[in-house]
Amino acid sequence: MPKIDEMLCEFNTYYRLGDGNMDQTHIEFLQLCQEATGESGDQFAASLNKLFEHTQQHFSVEEQRMIETAFPSYAEHRADHQRTLGELERFARRATAGKTAMARIWLNEGLPGWFDLHAKTMDSALAAHLKGTEVGQR
Ligand SMILES: [Fe+2]
Ligand SMILES: [Fe+2]
Repeated sequence: MPKIDEMLCEFNTYYRLGDGNMDQTHIEFLQLCQEATGESGDQFAASLNKLFEHTQQHFSVEEQRMIETAFPSYAEHRADHQRTLGELERFARRATAGKTAMARIWLNEGLPGWFDLHAKTMDSALAAHLKGTEVGQR
């Protein structure tokens, strides 16, 4: 199972996609995950809410770029985003209400596994597609 610390250390080897915008956003995503794992109580809830807001923006930028470049797997990619964003919202809300145990397990075990797969498959395919389209270059 991938660990957030190792994913950040190994970012260039396993997760760098060669698209400046996506790479920067993904590093920030992993840093926010890492930050959240080190917090407890109200600070834990606050950092999950910060991660939720960042992820909302992260996904919306990718989806906008898919629309602009007529990315063929848009619907599938967006559905995967929505599933994860829904989970993140639910766990952030629970943590805000003081229920942190499940959120913590998900943050340490569920979310890194999701990112590992999503980055290596869907985001990697999107980055390759953007490289092949002029409007995709930013
Ligand atoms: Fe992404
Ligand atoms: Fe994505």
